[in-house]
Amino acid sequence: MKRQFIKDIKTGTQVDDVFYCSRRDVRERRDGGAFLTLELRDKTGFANAIMWDRIEDALKCVEVGGFYRVTGRMGDYQGKAQLNVNLIYPADKAEISRDDFIAASRYDRAELMTELRGFIAAVKNPHLRGLLDAFFGDAGFAEKFSLAPGGARVHHAYLGGLLEHTTLMARLARSFPEVYKEIDGDLLMTGLILHDVGKVREYVYDVAIDHSYDGRLLGHITMGYEMVQDKLAGMKDFPVELGRMLLHIILAHHGQMEFGSPKTPKFAEAFIVYFLDNLDARAAMFRETVEKNPNAKWTDFQQYLETNVYIPDKPA
Ligand SMILES: [Fe+2]
Ligand SMILES: [Fe+2]
Repeated sequence: MKRQFIKDIKTGTQVDDVFYCSRRDVRERRDGGAFLTLELRDKTGFANAIMWDRIEDALKCVEVGGFYRVTGRMGDYQGKAQLNVNLIYPADKAEISRDDFIAASRYDRAELMTELRGFIAAVKNPHLRGLLDAFFGDAGFAEKFSLAPGGARVHHAYLGGLLEHTTLMARLARSFPEVYKEIDGDLLMTGLILHDVGKVREYVYDVAIDHSYDGRLLGHITMGYEMVQDKLAGMKDFPVELGRMLLHIILAHHGQMEFGSPKTPKFAEAFIVYFLDNLDARAAMFRETVEKNPNAKWTDFQQYLETNVYIPDKPA
């Protein structure tokens, strides 16, 4: 079991523990030699690390996706924590425990799944309901859906993150057809529940959360499209237009092409899924940012939120 977690390591602390390597870059020094920069992680966060000297052995053994025992000292570079590495070598299998490297949703996964199944049961259109049942009636798929993270780093990067993200979006979506009578509530709910289904395959999360091989090459929008398309191909009576609209919701859910969607939303249900996806992701980013900065009034600039986050005083 680990003793030193990234979130708690203070500047000046001597470090000797196991970390997951999520980035590895060899850079050139001014004198022509090489140095190594790394990103290390555990379930509490990321640390930038740097190794200046005697990097030859490290170069031979350190790869992205591996677990390493690292010794060094936590330093500071331009006001940011940076681990100065003396020694890094592959960790023993016995030293690697999933609980040290993957955090879990604060919600009970079984309860969330029951709630999500309630939303599925409320879908009246028999074709859409049949499609959802084709996914969630498969116990192996349901297990993967309830375990998968919702992201690798920016938000919901923990076990159960996908299920939490999807279920909270479904709670928010419930009221839309009541307020806007023209909305097809069944299409909205089905598209919403399946919008990130590709994340079941986009990530690996057996010992640490990272992108899978296919996830890196294809991404969850394409993979989700494929998964739904495969199911639709086996449902001969499924209305063609409804199927196209559902696939469009998946393709358009990132809203803009620069965020990975090949199409922008072309009808209201697709726009609402994009909107709720963005809303829930940002709400989670604010929450996670506050949790990671317990002693600050203002955080560093948060790239994805495009601002420094203000942290209110806790009530006494
Ligand atoms: Fe997504
Ligand atoms: Fe999403």
